[in-house]
Amino acid sequence: MLADIVIGIQHGDEAKGKVTHYLCKYKKYTHVLRFNGGCNAGHTIYHNGQKFVTHHIPAGVFYGVKSIIGPGCVVNPAQFFRELEELKAGGIDVENKIFIAKNTHVITNSHLEEENNETKIGTTKRGNGPAYRDKYARVGIQAEAIPSLKPYLIDLYEEFHGDKTIKVLCEGAQGYSLDVDWGDYPYVTSSHCGVAGALLNAIPHTWVRDVWGVGKVYETYVGAKQFEPIEGSSFFAALRDVGEEYGATTGRPRQCNHLNLDTMRRALRVNGVDKLVLNKVDVLRTLGSWKLVNNGELITFNTEKEFLGFISKDLNDVEIFFSDSKHKI
Ligand code: IMP
Ligand code: MG
Repeated sequence: MLADIVIGIQHGDEAKGKVTHYLCKYKKYTHVLRFNGGCNAGHTIYHNGQKFVTHHIPAGVFYGVKSIIGPGCVVNPAQFFRELEELKAGGIDVENKIFIAKNTHVITNSHLEEENNETKIGTTKRGNGPAYRDKYARVGIQAEAIPSLKPYLIDLYEEFHGDKTIKVLCEGAQGYSLDVDWGDYPYVTSSHCGVAGALLNAIPHTWVRDVWGVGKVYETYVGAKQFEPIEGSSFFAALRDVGEEYGATTGRPRQCNHLNLDTMRRALRVNGVDKLVLNKVDVLRTLGSWKLVNNGELITFNTEKEFLGFISKDLNDVEIFFSDSKHKI
């Protein structure tokens, strides 16, 4: 039995979907497990040249891998069924491939209504915070109680334990800087976005093989806090356009900033990342700008080679894969 884990090491939107999609194609998993978050996530996936955006359903489904929404997630049944239909309409075989752990908590209409006018955190208004609050306050509703979900429910213990051939890819949502414990509280989401979050879903630590951290060579954030430097905003406006940095779930423009190696180092260590994918090098190439923050200082490099070389040298305890927007890993 083994498990690989894919996590975001920035503020979400690092292209984790691309990495899970790639790994599903080549690594012969028996299961793909979404382990945190709800339909606040938006994973953009290009499959056979067609664009899909999934919110709840793990990327394994594109290659016929059994795809599970784990109990670390919260699920909105209406959104779940909408997504099923979208996948079917796109020609993806979803029959007997998509399941929800019966102890997963449900996002209700009242959770959604409650978030309608939320402005303090700048949430995606998908009811995540209220659903997790109710779960921990022990007044939530589990998937088991929803009749329409019955055909999709499984017991995750029975699914994973007792079969020695299990090979799970754990697909995280959001990222380190949005993690409820490690992010910039209160500007965080309400779930555990790191490796520990995966283990809460009947994944024993002894199964863990590779931990894939996914980031970009610059940073983006969506939410209420000021993230983008006000000075130099025309540069970040250009970055946003070239990088197509608009929310997959809400369409909101993402605030942009330079790569912060200090935060990235923390994210890698806290999670024991051993393989790191850094995406979107081509975006900085188009802009001809190679900058990052290290030890609290902004450093400017003359060339791509110097910039990538600095990162590789600094993070030499992880295997790094630099990637362009349209590339596989
Ligand atoms: P919530 O998760 O909807 O409660 O939103 C809390 C914070 O996390 C807000 O700043 C959201 O924009 C951000 N957030 C939640 N999910 C994602 C995501 O999948 N990508 C990027 N940001 C996200
Ligand atoms: Mg996203």
